[in-house]
Amino acid sequence: MKKTILAANWKMYLDGDASIDFVKKINSNEESFFKSEVILFPSHTCINQVQKNLGTENIKIGMQDCDINTEGAYTGAVSLHSLSDIDFCIVGHSERRLLYNESDEVVKDKLETVTNNNVSAILCIGETKEQKNDGNTFKVIDRQLSILPKDAINGLTIAYEPVWSIGSGELPSNEYIEDVLSYVKNKLKSLYSDEIVEKTNLLYGGSVDKDSINRLLDVKLIDGFLIGSASADFESFKAIAEKLN
Ligand code: 13P
Repeated sequence: MKKTILAANWKMYLDGDASIDFVKKINSNEESFFKSEVILFPSHTCINQVQKNLGTENIKIGMQDCDINTEGAYTGAVSLHSLSDIDFCIVGHSERRLLYNESDEVVKDKLETVTNNNVSAILCIGETKEQKNDGNTFKVIDRQLSILPKDAINGLTIAYEPVWSIGSGELPSNEYIEDVLSYVKNKLKSLYSDEIVEKTNLLYGGSVDKDSINRLLDVKLIDGFLIGSASADFESFKAIAEKLN
């Protein structure tokens, strides 16, 4: 059976010591995560230590973001090449789009950099509260997906994260999520073969925790979850994983 993806976006929540402490706890509670495919997204500076301290090959590591360029005069930017053994990279998280003004064009270029470097991309999409209230959810989703290339992307994952649900405790109904994910699936079908669409995982993100997961698990189209604050606290992350058992 396909495992449920639990992608832990630690944002800027955990420093080096806290990240190491977290993975040590994973090492000694490995059985709690057997039913999930865990991907950890530590801060860039903590990735090496997390990799060194992780006692299992079953857990994958990713970058929360990367630069479009992989080398050169780009002060402060982080290249995909500067970290080894990275399996995934998040592209177009709403915090990057809104707080760092990343346009669809930038997101498109990042997606290209990630896929050209054989790293699996998690492309984040989602509407703001205002866009939702104006009835523009599908228009926004469509625009954000319009950056997808005609050629199929290997290992692509799409994470639907309504901006208004991130960190707010406010959740869309299961029907709402189902409608958006169906829309995404149809868009993918218009671009790629059935085989590729089948392999493209769909995640939901936004206020996922040990309580909300109970009803979110009923959404058939969800292959997994992109989790923020609840993923940075070991006990709550473990509790989410145990709901899958
Ligand atoms: P929260 O789980 O804290 O709402 O954050 C979701 C998110 O942004 C994951 O990328």
